[in-house]
Amino acid sequence: MRQPFVAGNWKQNGSLSQNKELMSGVINGLDSGLTVKVAVCVPYIYISQISDMVASSKVSLGSQNVSDQESGAFTGEIGCSMLKEFACEYAIVGHSERRAIYGESDDDVAKKFTAAQKGGLIPILCVGELLEERESGQTEVVVERQLSAIINSSGVASLKDSIIAYEPVWAIGTGKTASPDQAQDVHFFIRSVIAKYDESVSQSVQILYGGSVKGSNAKELFSMQDIDGGLIGGASLKSDDFLAICNAAG
Ligand code: PGA
Repeated sequence: MRQPFVAGNWKQNGSLSQNKELMSGVINGLDSGLTVKVAVCVPYIYISQISDMVASSKVSLGSQNVSDQESGAFTGEIGCSMLKEFACEYAIVGHSERRAIYGESDDDVAKKFTAAQKGGLIPILCVGELLEERESGQTEVVVERQLSAIINSSGVASLKDSIIAYEPVWAIGTGKTASPDQAQDVHFFIRSVIAKYDESVSQSVQILYGGSVKGSNAKELFSMQDIDGGLIGGASLKSDDFLAICNAAG
């Protein structure tokens, strides 16, 4: 039985005062009976603030990126040991915005994935196809290539200590959610790729869906067999919206 998981991805949003309001809403509004694991992945600069706020709550903390290096002359980078000092547990790697806007390759993402695990963080590995790739029937090829980069560099067993997020790029921030069936098909495909190497890892790894998840569509998506929760962008910025999604996950 896989535990449901909902992670907020704030992207480049927030301010000290907005964060305070958002997080008190989330922390106080989370029903103590929920089985869902909840995390927020916040901009680096707010890791310290949010770390203090979530300290005695059920909410976990994550970053949106991580350096592939431990420390040293890497201007502008933040490494695992720094994040760990603030009780950060997760790091998103390979988000489509990092891949598309900042040119991160499958190989770069694999290095970050390895570095995160080596440094004691749980990587949330994002995979997903562009609209033109879906329209030209390339979805499975793209997702398998992105997954294989990790399996080839870190080994399939490494996926046991990670979370995968399937985020079709055409659904991110567009209001165009994948239908539950479309998402389920790709989640099932991801498990079948992993199963070629290791059946038990394919069944135990949590796979989140991301891309315009809202309170109104979360329940239907999360009820699909291979969807274990969501990675939430826009709707993680308002506590009521985020809480509705957490509640839908159980
Ligand atoms: P969205 O973003 O929920 O705003 O579509 C999801 C993501 O990019 O992780």
